[in-house]
Amino acid sequence: MRVLGIETTCDETAAAIVERETDGRARILSNEILSQIADHAPYGGVVPEIAARAHVTALDRLVAEALRKAGCRLSNLDGIAAAAGPGLIGGVIVGLTAAKALALVGKKPFLAINHLEAHALTPRLTDGIAFPYLLLLASGGHTQFVVVRDVGDYLRLGGTIDDAIGEAFDKTAKMLGLPYPGGPAVEREALRGDPERFALPRPMIGRPGADFSLSGLKTAVRLEAERVAPLTPTDVADLCASFQAAVVDVVVDRTRSALRMHRDKVGNPTALVVAGGVAANASIRRALQRLAGEAGLPMVAPPLALCTDNGAMIAWAGIERLRRGMTDDLGTAPRARWALEPRAGVPA
Ligand code: KG4
Ligand code: ZN
Repeated sequence: MRVLGIETTCDETAAAIVERETDGRARILSNEILSQIADHAPYGGVVPEIAARAHVTALDRLVAEALRKAGCRLSNLDGIAAAAGPGLIGGVIVGLTAAKALALVGKKPFLAINHLEAHALTPRLTDGIAFPYLLLLASGGHTQFVVVRDVGDYLRLGGTIDDAIGEAFDKTAKMLGLPYPGGPAVEREALRGDPERFALPRPMIGRPGADFSLSGLKTAVRLEAERVAPLTPTDVADLCASFQAAVVDVVVDRTRSALRMHRDKVGNPTALVVAGGVAANASIRRALQRLAGEAGLPMVAPPLALCTDNGAMIAWAGIERLRRGMTDDLGTAPRARWALEPRAGVPA
Protein backbone atom coordinates (compact mmCIF):
# COMPACT_ATOMS: atom_id res chain seq x y z
CA MET A 1 0.00 0.00 0.00
CA ARG A 2 1.39 3.36 -1.11
CA VAL A 3 0.11 6.77 -0.10
CA LEU A 4 1.10 10.34 -0.94
CA GLY A 5 1.00 12.71 2.05
CA ILE A 6 0.82 16.49 1.85
CA GLU A 7 1.53 18.84 4.77
CA THR A 8 0.88 22.61 4.66
CA THR A 9 -0.58 23.52 8.06
CA CYS A 10 2.22 25.80 9.23
CA ASP A 11 5.53 26.94 7.80
CA GLU A 12 6.77 23.80 6.08
CA THR A 13 5.56 22.71 2.67
CA ALA A 14 6.00 18.95 2.48
CA ALA A 15 5.11 15.98 0.28
CA ALA A 16 6.10 12.35 0.81
CA ILE A 17 5.34 8.86 -0.35
CA VAL A 18 5.24 6.04 2.17
CA GLU A 19 4.74 2.37 1.49
CA ARG A 20 3.51 -0.33 3.84
CA GLU A 21 4.75 -3.77 2.95
CA THR A 22 2.65 -6.90 3.42
CA ASP A 23 4.71 -7.79 6.51
CA GLY A 24 3.60 -4.49 8.09
CA ARG A 25 6.92 -2.72 7.74
CA ALA A 26 6.90 0.86 6.53
CA ARG A 27 9.26 2.37 4.00
CA ILE A 28 9.58 6.07 3.29
CA LEU A 29 10.09 6.23 -0.47
CA SER A 30 10.48 9.99 -0.55
CA ASN A 31 10.11 12.83 1.92
CA GLU A 32 10.37 16.29 0.35
CA ILE A 33 10.27 19.36 2.53
CA LEU A 34 10.72 23.06 2.03
CA SER A 35 11.07 25.13 5.17
CA GLN A 36 9.90 28.75 5.08
CA ILE A 37 11.98 29.72 8.11
CA ALA A 38 13.95 32.28 6.09
CA ASP A 39 10.71 33.91 4.82
CA HIS A 40 9.39 34.41 8.34
CA ALA A 41 12.61 35.08 10.25
CA PRO A 42 12.54 38.87 9.69
CA TYR A 43 9.15 38.97 11.50
CA GLY A 44 10.23 36.77 14.43
CA GLY A 45 7.38 34.34 13.82
CA VAL A 46 5.18 32.75 11.17
CA VAL A 47 3.14 35.24 9.10
CA PRO A 48 0.01 33.35 7.88
CA GLU A 49 -0.38 35.21 4.59
CA ILE A 50 3.27 34.74 3.65
CA ALA A 51 3.00 31.06 4.57
CA ALA A 52 -0.07 30.48 2.38
CA ARG A 53 1.55 32.12 -0.65
CA ALA A 54 4.76 30.16 -0.17
CA HIS A 55 2.78 26.88 -0.05
CA VAL A 56 1.06 27.76 -3.34
CA THR A 57 4.40 28.50 -5.00
CA ALA A 58 6.18 25.36 -3.79
CA LEU A 59 3.65 22.56 -3.52
CA ASP A 60 3.31 21.38 -7.16
CA ARG A 61 7.05 21.05 -7.51
CA LEU A 62 7.42 19.21 -4.19
CA VAL A 63 4.70 16.69 -5.12
CA ALA A 64 6.34 16.08 -8.51
CA GLU A 65 9.70 15.64 -6.81
CA ALA A 66 8.24 13.24 -4.21
CA LEU A 67 6.77 11.10 -7.02
CA ARG A 68 10.00 11.20 -9.01
CA LYS A 69 12.22 10.22 -6.06
CA ALA A 70 9.84 7.39 -5.12
CA GLY A 71 9.99 6.21 -8.72
CA CYS A 72 6.24 6.19 -9.12
CA ARG A 73 3.31 7.88 -10.82
CA LEU A 74 -0.08 8.94 -9.59
CA SER A 75 -1.48 5.70 -10.99
CA ASN A 76 0.82 3.63 -8.71
CA LEU A 77 -0.62 5.19 -5.54
CA ASP A 78 -3.36 3.66 -3.38
CA GLY A 79 -4.45 6.89 -1.76
CA ILE A 80 -3.90 10.64 -1.43
CA ALA A 81 -3.66 12.16 2.05
CA ALA A 82 -3.40 15.76 3.19
CA ALA A 83 -3.45 17.48 6.55
CA ALA A 84 -6.92 19.04 6.82
CA GLY A 85 -6.08 20.91 10.05
CA PRO A 86 -5.56 22.12 12.66
CA GLY A 87 -3.37 24.95 11.45
CA LEU A 88 -3.20 28.24 9.58
CA ILE A 89 -6.29 28.08 7.41
CA GLY A 90 -4.75 29.59 4.24
CA GLY A 91 -2.06 26.94 4.16
CA VAL A 92 -4.44 24.11 5.02
CA ILE A 93 -6.66 25.09 2.08
CA VAL A 94 -3.69 24.93 -0.30
CA GLY A 95 -2.64 21.39 0.67
CA LEU A 96 -6.15 20.02 0.98
CA THR A 97 -7.26 21.39 -2.38
CA ALA A 98 -4.19 20.00 -4.13
CA ALA A 99 -4.80 16.56 -2.59
CA LYS A 100 -8.48 16.58 -3.59
CA ALA A 101 -7.56 17.48 -7.17
CA LEU A 102 -5.03 14.63 -7.35
CA ALA A 103 -7.52 12.17 -5.83
CA LEU A 104 -10.19 13.26 -8.29
CA VAL A 105 -7.97 13.08 -11.35
CA GLY A 106 -6.31 9.82 -10.31
CA LYS A 107 -9.59 8.30 -9.04
CA LYS A 108 -7.89 7.48 -5.74
CA PRO A 109 -9.24 7.29 -2.19
CA PHE A 110 -8.87 10.60 -0.37
CA LEU A 111 -7.77 10.92 3.27
CA ALA A 112 -8.24 14.13 5.27
CA ILE A 113 -5.74 13.82 8.09
CA ASN A 114 -5.72 15.52 11.45
CA HIS A 115 -2.18 16.94 11.76
CA LEU A 116 -2.07 16.00 15.45
CA GLU A 117 -3.09 12.44 14.65
CA ALA A 118 -0.21 12.26 12.17
CA HIS A 119 2.25 13.28 14.91
CA ALA A 120 0.59 10.78 17.26
CA LEU A 121 0.95 7.83 14.84
CA THR A 122 4.53 8.58 13.72
CA PRO A 123 6.15 6.21 16.27
CA ARG A 124 4.32 3.36 14.54
CA LEU A 125 5.94 4.38 11.27
CA THR A 126 9.42 4.66 12.76
CA ASP A 127 9.38 1.99 15.49
CA GLY A 128 6.29 -0.12 14.83
CA ILE A 129 5.11 0.27 18.42
CA ALA A 130 1.81 -1.22 19.60
CA PHE A 131 -1.21 0.51 21.18
CA PRO A 132 -1.74 1.92 23.74
CA TYR A 133 1.07 4.39 24.34
CA LEU A 134 1.49 7.72 26.05
CA LEU A 135 2.34 10.57 23.71
CA LEU A 136 3.75 13.92 24.74
CA LEU A 137 3.24 16.16 21.74
CA ALA A 138 5.23 19.35 22.20
CA SER A 139 5.67 21.81 19.36
CA GLY A 140 5.36 25.52 18.68
CA GLY A 141 1.59 25.28 18.45
CA HIS A 142 0.70 22.33 20.68
CA THR A 143 1.53 20.84 24.04
CA GLN A 144 -0.53 17.88 25.17
CA PHE A 145 -0.52 14.39 26.63
CA VAL A 146 -2.55 11.89 24.65
CA VAL A 147 -3.25 8.22 25.23
CA VAL A 148 -3.06 6.71 21.75
CA ARG A 149 -5.44 3.74 22.09
CA ASP A 150 -5.99 3.03 18.42
CA VAL A 151 -6.23 4.82 15.09
CA GLY A 152 -8.90 7.46 15.63
CA ASP A 153 -9.19 6.62 19.34
CA TYR A 154 -7.42 9.14 21.52
CA LEU A 155 -7.75 10.21 25.12
CA ARG A 156 -6.37 13.61 26.04
CA LEU A 157 -4.94 13.62 29.56
CA GLY A 158 -3.89 17.26 29.75
CA GLY A 159 -2.16 20.07 27.96
CA THR A 160 -1.10 23.65 28.24
CA ILE A 161 -3.56 26.18 29.53
CA ASP A 162 -1.60 29.04 27.94
CA ASP A 163 1.63 28.84 25.89
CA ALA A 164 2.88 25.75 24.08
CA ILE A 165 6.39 24.67 25.16
CA GLY A 166 7.93 25.57 21.80
CA GLU A 167 6.13 28.90 21.95
CA ALA A 168 7.67 29.57 25.39
CA PHE A 169 11.11 28.84 23.91
CA ASP A 170 10.35 31.11 20.92
CA LYS A 171 9.10 33.99 23.10
CA THR A 172 12.03 33.66 25.51
CA ALA A 173 14.44 33.78 22.56
CA LYS A 174 12.76 36.86 21.13
CA MET A 175 12.91 38.61 24.51
CA LEU A 176 16.64 37.90 24.76
CA GLY A 177 17.39 39.01 21.21
CA LEU A 178 18.04 35.48 19.90
CA PRO A 179 17.03 34.36 16.40
CA TYR A 180 13.84 32.57 15.34
CA PRO A 181 13.02 29.72 15.80
CA GLY A 182 13.88 30.11 19.45
CA GLY A 183 14.17 26.50 20.61
CA PRO A 184 17.50 25.64 19.01
CA ALA A 185 18.91 29.10 19.85
CA VAL A 186 17.95 28.88 23.53
CA GLU A 187 19.30 25.33 23.76
CA ARG A 188 22.61 26.42 22.24
CA GLU A 189 22.95 29.33 24.68
CA ALA A 190 21.94 27.13 27.62
CA LEU A 191 24.91 24.84 26.95
CA ARG A 192 27.32 27.48 28.21
CA GLY A 193 25.05 29.02 30.84
CA ASP A 194 24.55 28.51 34.57
CA PRO A 195 21.14 26.87 35.17
CA GLU A 196 21.17 27.87 38.84
CA ARG A 197 21.90 31.56 38.54
CA PHE A 198 18.25 32.61 38.24
CA ALA A 199 15.63 31.07 40.55
CA LEU A 200 12.72 30.73 38.12
CA PRO A 201 9.32 29.28 39.02
CA ARG A 202 8.27 25.72 38.13
CA PRO A 203 4.55 26.26 37.44
CA MET A 204 2.09 23.37 38.07
CA ILE A 205 4.67 21.05 39.66
CA GLY A 206 3.02 18.67 42.10
CA ARG A 207 -0.50 19.50 40.93
CA PRO A 208 -2.87 16.65 40.14
CA GLY A 209 -3.58 16.13 36.44
CA ALA A 210 -1.28 16.68 33.50
CA ASP A 211 -1.73 20.32 32.54
CA PHE A 212 1.00 22.84 31.82
CA SER A 213 1.14 26.57 32.34
CA LEU A 214 4.15 28.35 30.91
CA SER A 215 3.25 32.01 30.57
CA GLY A 216 4.28 32.74 34.19
CA LEU A 217 7.70 31.25 33.57
CA LYS A 218 8.11 33.39 30.48
CA THR A 219 7.15 36.49 32.48
CA ALA A 220 9.65 35.55 35.19
CA VAL A 221 12.40 35.39 32.55
CA ARG A 222 11.39 38.84 31.32
CA LEU A 223 11.48 40.32 34.83
CA GLU A 224 14.92 38.85 35.54
CA ALA A 225 16.18 40.11 32.17
CA GLU A 226 14.89 43.60 32.95
CA ARG A 227 16.50 43.48 36.39
CA VAL A 228 20.01 42.72 35.08
CA ALA A 229 19.77 44.74 31.81
CA PRO A 230 21.79 45.65 29.79
CA LEU A 231 22.35 41.95 29.12
CA THR A 232 25.85 40.61 28.59
CA PRO A 233 26.35 37.37 26.62
CA THR A 234 26.84 35.60 29.96
CA ASP A 235 23.52 36.94 31.26
CA VAL A 236 21.76 35.66 28.13
CA ALA A 237 23.37 32.23 28.45
CA ASP A 238 22.50 32.02 32.17
CA LEU A 239 18.90 33.09 31.54
CA CYS A 240 18.57 30.45 28.81
CA ALA A 241 20.09 27.74 31.01
CA SER A 242 17.86 28.69 33.96
CA PHE A 243 14.76 28.79 31.73
CA GLN A 244 15.53 25.43 30.15
CA ALA A 245 16.19 23.83 33.55
CA ALA A 246 12.78 25.04 34.75
CA VAL A 247 11.08 23.66 31.62
CA VAL A 248 12.81 20.29 32.06
CA ASP A 249 11.65 20.05 35.70
CA VAL A 250 8.08 20.89 34.70
CA VAL A 251 8.05 18.45 31.78
CA VAL A 252 9.35 15.60 33.98
CA ASP A 253 6.80 16.28 36.73
CA ARG A 254 3.88 16.54 34.31
CA THR A 255 4.95 13.41 32.43
CA ARG A 256 5.22 11.45 35.67
CA SER A 257 1.68 12.50 36.49
CA ALA A 258 0.44 11.66 32.97
CA LEU A 259 1.98 8.17 33.23
CA ARG A 260 0.10 7.64 36.48
CA MET A 261 -3.13 8.76 34.82
CA HIS A 262 -2.49 6.42 31.90
CA ARG A 263 -2.12 3.46 34.28
CA ASP A 264 -5.27 4.40 36.19
CA LYS A 265 -7.41 4.87 33.10
CA VAL A 266 -6.20 2.32 30.55
CA GLY A 267 -3.45 0.29 32.20
CA ASN A 268 0.23 0.23 31.28
CA PRO A 269 1.39 1.99 28.13
CA THR A 270 3.73 0.14 25.77
CA ALA A 271 6.00 3.20 25.57
CA LEU A 272 6.49 6.85 26.34
CA VAL A 273 6.58 8.72 23.05
CA VAL A 274 7.70 12.29 22.59
CA ALA A 275 7.07 14.10 19.32
CA GLY A 276 6.92 17.63 17.94
CA GLY A 277 9.74 20.11 17.44
CA VAL A 278 10.50 20.38 21.16
CA ALA A 279 11.50 16.69 21.15
CA ALA A 280 14.66 17.93 19.44
CA ASN A 281 15.82 19.36 22.77
CA ALA A 282 18.57 17.12 24.15
CA SER A 283 18.00 18.06 27.81
CA ILE A 284 14.30 17.30 27.58
CA ARG A 285 14.97 14.03 25.77
CA ARG A 286 17.55 12.95 28.35
CA ALA A 287 15.26 13.74 31.27
CA LEU A 288 12.35 11.84 29.72
CA GLN A 289 14.61 8.92 28.90
CA ARG A 290 15.54 8.69 32.57
CA LEU A 291 11.91 8.94 33.67
CA ALA A 292 10.80 6.24 31.20
CA GLY A 293 13.66 4.01 32.40
CA GLU A 294 12.50 4.38 36.01
CA ALA A 295 8.99 3.45 34.92
CA GLY A 296 10.32 0.39 33.05
CA LEU A 297 9.17 1.73 29.68
CA PRO A 298 10.97 2.35 26.43
CA MET A 299 11.09 5.98 25.38
CA VAL A 300 10.54 6.52 21.70
CA ALA A 301 11.38 9.80 20.00
CA PRO A 302 11.13 9.64 16.22
CA PRO A 303 14.22 10.93 14.40
CA LEU A 304 14.25 14.69 14.21
CA ALA A 305 13.11 14.99 10.61
CA LEU A 306 10.00 12.96 11.48
CA CYS A 307 9.42 14.69 14.85
CA THR A 308 8.91 18.10 13.29
CA ASP A 309 6.30 18.73 10.59
CA ASN A 310 6.78 16.54 7.51
CA GLY A 311 4.89 14.79 4.72
CA ALA A 312 5.78 11.21 5.69
CA MET A 313 3.72 11.41 8.88
CA ILE A 314 0.67 12.51 6.86
CA ALA A 315 1.21 9.69 4.35
CA TRP A 316 1.59 7.16 7.19
CA ALA A 317 -1.58 8.36 8.96
CA GLY A 318 -3.24 8.00 5.54
CA ILE A 319 -2.07 4.38 5.32
CA GLU A 320 -3.29 3.60 8.85
CA ARG A 321 -6.72 5.00 7.96
CA LEU A 322 -6.92 3.54 4.46
CA ARG A 323 -6.20 0.04 5.84
CA ARG A 324 -9.20 0.44 8.11
CA GLY A 325 -11.44 1.79 5.38
CA MET A 326 -11.58 5.21 7.01
CA THR A 327 -11.54 7.27 3.81
CA ASP A 328 -12.99 10.76 3.44
CA ASP A 329 -15.34 12.61 1.16
CA LEU A 330 -13.97 15.15 -1.33
CA GLY A 331 -16.30 17.66 0.30
CA THR A 332 -14.31 17.52 3.57
CA ALA A 333 -13.68 21.06 4.81
CA PRO A 334 -10.35 22.47 6.04
CA ARG A 335 -10.22 23.27 9.75
CA ALA A 336 -8.23 25.87 11.64
CA ARG A 337 -9.09 24.12 14.90
CA TRP A 338 -9.53 20.39 15.25
CA ALA A 339 -9.12 18.54 18.55
CA LEU A 340 -8.00 14.91 18.54
CA GLU A 341 -10.66 13.90 20.96
CA PRO A 342 -13.22 12.37 21.01
CA ARG A 343 -12.35 10.91 17.64
CA ALA A 344 -10.29 12.33 14.83
CA GLY A 345 -12.69 12.84 11.96
CA VAL A 346 -15.37 14.37 14.13
CA PRO A 347 -15.36 18.15 14.58
CA ALA A 348 -14.44 19.29 18.07
O1 KG4 B 1 6.77 20.58 15.34
P1 KG4 B 1 7.38 21.87 14.88
O2 KG4 B 1 8.44 21.83 13.84
O3 KG4 B 1 6.29 22.84 14.31
C1 KG4 B 1 5.08 23.12 14.94
O4 KG4 B 1 5.09 24.02 15.80
O5 KG4 B 1 4.09 22.43 14.58
O6 KG4 B 1 7.92 22.61 16.19
C2 KG4 B 1 8.55 23.85 16.14
C3 KG4 B 1 8.77 24.31 17.57
C4 KG4 B 1 9.27 25.74 17.66
O7 KG4 B 1 8.55 26.41 18.67
C5 KG4 B 1 10.73 25.55 18.05
O8 KG4 B 1 11.25 26.63 18.80
C6 KG4 B 1 10.68 24.29 18.87
O9 KG4 B 1 9.74 23.46 18.21
N1 KG4 B 1 12.00 23.65 18.94
C7 KG4 B 1 12.69 23.48 20.07
C8 KG4 B 1 13.94 22.93 19.68
N2 KG4 B 1 13.95 22.79 18.32
C9 KG4 B 1 12.74 23.23 17.88
N3 KG4 B 1 12.39 23.73 21.34
C10 KG4 B 1 13.33 23.45 22.27
N4 KG4 B 1 14.56 22.96 21.98
C11 KG4 B 1 14.91 22.69 20.70
N5 KG4 B 1 16.11 22.21 20.42
ZN1 ZN C 1 3.22 19.81 13.94
